[in-house]
Amino acid sequence: MSEELLRRIRLGGERPKHVAVIMDGNGRWAAARGLPRHLGHREGMKAVREAVEAAVEAEIEVLTLYAFSTENWKRPVTEVTALMGLLQLYARKERAELRRKGVEVHVLGDLARVDGVTRAAIDGIVEETRGGTALRLNLMISYGGREELVRAARLLAERVRAGQLTPDAIDESTLSGALFTQGLPNPDLLIRTSGEYRISNFMLWQLAYTEMHITDVLWPDFGREHFFEALLDYQTRDRRFGRVTAG
Ligand code: FPP
Repeated sequence: MSEELLRRIRLGGERPKHVAVIMDGNGRWAAARGLPRHLGHREGMKAVREAVEAAVEAEIEVLTLYAFSTENWKRPVTEVTALMGLLQLYARKERAELRRKGVEVHVLGDLARVDGVTRAAIDGIVEETRGGTALRLNLMISYGGREELVRAARLLAERVRAGQLTPDAIDESTLSGALFTQGLPNPDLLIRTSGEYRISNFMLWQLAYTEMHITDVLWPDFGREHFFEALLDYQTRDRRFGRVTAG
């Protein structure tokens, strides 16, 4: 089944270079089974593994996963601790395999708020996977789209104050270059699971012309075939970027 979908993707025309994912529904997945929320996140970690494998198989260049938002800091401390613990586990368990697959991991967000143990685990996975060329994986942690834009405004203001930049010289590419995603193409496709029709403060600048694929599947149930189906859906889209015809 997966092979057949992959074959159709290969024949189906242009693939997205950059896929971004809002991984939603872990809590509802757990609640539906009478389980505590953290077990939903644990199962969600397995879905992360599948999505990464699927992205490598489909030869996607960049995969960006929204793993922890700035708003998530407001969740109960037990849940925040469980999520940080899972990130540590993921970083320790997966880094050798990710390196073997050629996945280069980047962690983007306000890491000053992240505890020392989690940061050390993050540094470890980033270090070990550096130089991978099959896929760039961005894990967005302690990330918010508005906060990223505020940070960019500050960075540019500092450069103006230092006399390195004039206000007139600030254009879209200057601003893009001050974001965490500097140098990367914007996402071509955004996948959101669990049937919610929201952006939730995710990549507000970068998603301006991104195609969206929203599925009712809860994140822990989202497997490689769902990922491939999202790519096939993308291949049916007529991208016009505000123009009359594609091109
Ligand atoms: C949203 O589900 C999901 C999160 C807030 C966290 C995402 C984390 C993972 C998938 C696991 C760890 C990730 C990595 C990269 C190791 P929700 O809790 O908002 O679900 P709900 O809307 O059903 O309550």
